[in-house]
Amino acid sequence: MTAALTDLLGIDLPVILGPFGGLSSIELTALVSEGGGLGSYGLYGYDAARIAETAAQMRECTSRPFSLNLWLPLGDEVGPETVRFAPARDALRPLYEAAGAAAPEPPERFLPPLAEQLDAIWDAAPAALSVVYGVPSADTVAEAHRRGIRVIGTATSVAEARALEAGGVDLVVASGAEAAGHRVSFLAAPERSLVGTLALVPQVVDAVDIPVVAAGGIADRRGVAAAFALGAAGVQVGTAFLRTRQSAASDGHRAAIAAADDTTTVLTRAMSGRLARGIPNRAVHDIEAAGVIAPFPAQNWLTAVFRTAAGGDPELSSLWAGQAAALATREDAAEVLRELASGVPAR
Ligand SMILES: Cc1cc2nc3c(=O)[nH]c(=O)nc-3n(C[C@H](O)[C@H](O)[C@H](O)COP(=O)(O)O)c2cc1C
Repeated sequence: MTAALTDLLGIDLPVILGPFGGLSSIELTALVSEGGGLGSYGLYGYDAARIAETAAQMRECTSRPFSLNLWLPLGDEVGPETVRFAPARDALRPLYEAAGAAAPEPPERFLPPLAEQLDAIWDAAPAALSVVYGVPSADTVAEAHRRGIRVIGTATSVAEARALEAGGVDLVVASGAEAAGHRVSFLAAPERSLVGTLALVPQVVDAVDIPVVAAGGIADRRGVAAAFALGAAGVQVGTAFLRTRQSAASDGHRAAIAAADDTTTVLTRAMSGRLARGIPNRAVHDIEAAGVIAPFPAQNWLTAVFRTAAGGDPELSSLWAGQAAALATREDAAEVLRELASGVPAR
């Protein structure tokens, strides 16, 4: 299966850099692709022009395969007219004040439409399109395949992995509850889909015939070796790369990862309206204490206003990180890649 994965993607090393919606960097993504793995770039919130610009920048840095990542609509997204906007905005006033930002009025739209993003992806022609929060439509999968683009889905349960395989995706990332960032469950509530990587990966491997990539809590050679022992064909790693100087994380975010221990991270809806794993800070504490959180993507848009104004202040940022944060000790991404590669079993 590992050969199937590397052949499918045209890579040498079955190591995928996790996409970081809002925090991907060209430098880090290209470094992993140049190093023989698959760099993935998160396009959350990007319109067509930014997607085209990102792909062009990637091609300037590497001719190796890379992946672009999108969030699919779950169907529960609210629009700017939601009645939940104003109360959530008003509850955030102290955080706007702390960041020196004005409390915002609703925008015309929170997110670009998926169809616009997909059109830009077809033009960008990455080696792979990876998605979270659902099964891409049959048309999307067919169009990707017609263009020679591989499709990578993300599952937090066996049922989701089966649904993705039935939907025609080429690979499935099995994302355990240890993982940083959003719990991308789409068939059941994320709180009901918190399966750890050690339990999830072998059950997904048993359930599907496509290659399975293990994600969540893998930060060094031991985690990689364990993932392969569980039957994974590859690994996807986030936190260990986010800690490095080549990532787009702020210095404060990197320092928070460096200071974390095994119990530091929490699951919270405070920052985006959807459940995600990160390091709690003033923003998380204050929002949870106020108890007013707008549904996604309104809450994410609302917190982005103070996050952006705060310019990397770690108390006013989303400090996404996974349970293996304390294992993310390396500051150079090439070193992380070498460390992870040393855990891949010889073929
Ligand atoms: C800041 C941040 C943003 C993320 N955004 C996305 C995203 O937009 N799409 C996605 O598929 N995964 C996203 N993830 C998850 C990672 O790609 C990866 O699967 C996860 O971090 C793996 O778990 P680990 O952190 O324990 O290594 C994000 C993770 C972080 C830390």
